[in-house]
Amino acid sequence: MKKDPIKMFYDTRKDRLKFPSVNMPYFNEMMIKMMAEDYEYNFDMLGRPIIQMPQDIVAMQEIIWSVKPDLIIETGIAHGGSLIFSASMLAMLDYCDAVEQGCVLDPSKSKRKVLGLDIDIRAHNRAAIEAHPLSHKIDMIEGSSIDEGIIKQVHEIAKGYEKVLVCLDSNHTHDHVLAELNAYAPLVSVGSYCAVFDTVVEDMPAEMFPDRPWGPGDNPKTAVWEYLKNHPEFEIDQSIQNKLLITVAPDGYLKRIS
Ligand SMILES: C[S@@+](CC[C@H](N)C(=O)[O-])C[C@H]1O[C@@H](n2cnc3c(N)ncnc32)[C@H](O)[C@@H]1O
Repeated sequence: MKKDPIKMFYDTRKDRLKFPSVNMPYFNEMMIKMMAEDYEYNFDMLGRPIIQMPQDIVAMQEIIWSVKPDLIIETGIAHGGSLIFSASMLAMLDYCDAVEQGCVLDPSKSKRKVLGLDIDIRAHNRAAIEAHPLSHKIDMIEGSSIDEGIIKQVHEIAKGYEKVLVCLDSNHTHDHVLAELNAYAPLVSVGSYCAVFDTVVEDMPAEMFPDRPWGPGDNPKTAVWEYLKNHPEFEIDQSIQNKLLITVAPDGYLKRIS
């Protein structure tokens, strides 16, 4: 029987991504140098600064395309680049649905939304996000992501959606991220992801974070490890970090499997 070339391509890739690259220590050295130079601050997403590495943006593109969420919850807005990215992906899903269904797309009728939380939405950032053509797909709430009232509000909003994806990128201390995981990971739909950013802090030298409350031993990766001890419904999707090599989220792409 003739082999399906597309299946062969994906099977080969799947095999390649089962294990970390043998060059991993080399990439870790690169990460230390890149983070020391604030490399992740170098990029814009559709006109707004995004504090991410391009590799992680591509990973999120793959995740959003495969999950096709109708709600993306993000903690940590900053300049709004990641909100705009998520909004653009949801807009693309709307566009593709319209093409497949052969109907005219009315962006104002789309149900898909991004919900951003930040303890301090600076006035100039809010104004720029609200002025963006994709702002109709974005709602923002100001307050701490671990405040009880905010958590309640988010859970209330999430009731109106079917497929939820969560991205955690706010305060990077162990306790804060663990509290965020407890608050928002339960909202993640089966088959969807909770992306926990800046887990890479665990792999960086302590002196890299002199003026931050987080560092090796106290960061999003230690929070993920702690959370996973009691939450078998999530597993780390190792294939993502194995493919990215350069990522701020090693052990941070959590897939909900049950
Ligand atoms: C790394 S930035 C977010 C970057 C953004 N996700 C992006 O990719 O462009 C972190 C943000 O988290 C916010 N933050 C810090 N503590 C927070 C908290 N307790 N609750 C919500 N947001 C918080 C900060 O105000 C800051 O804007």
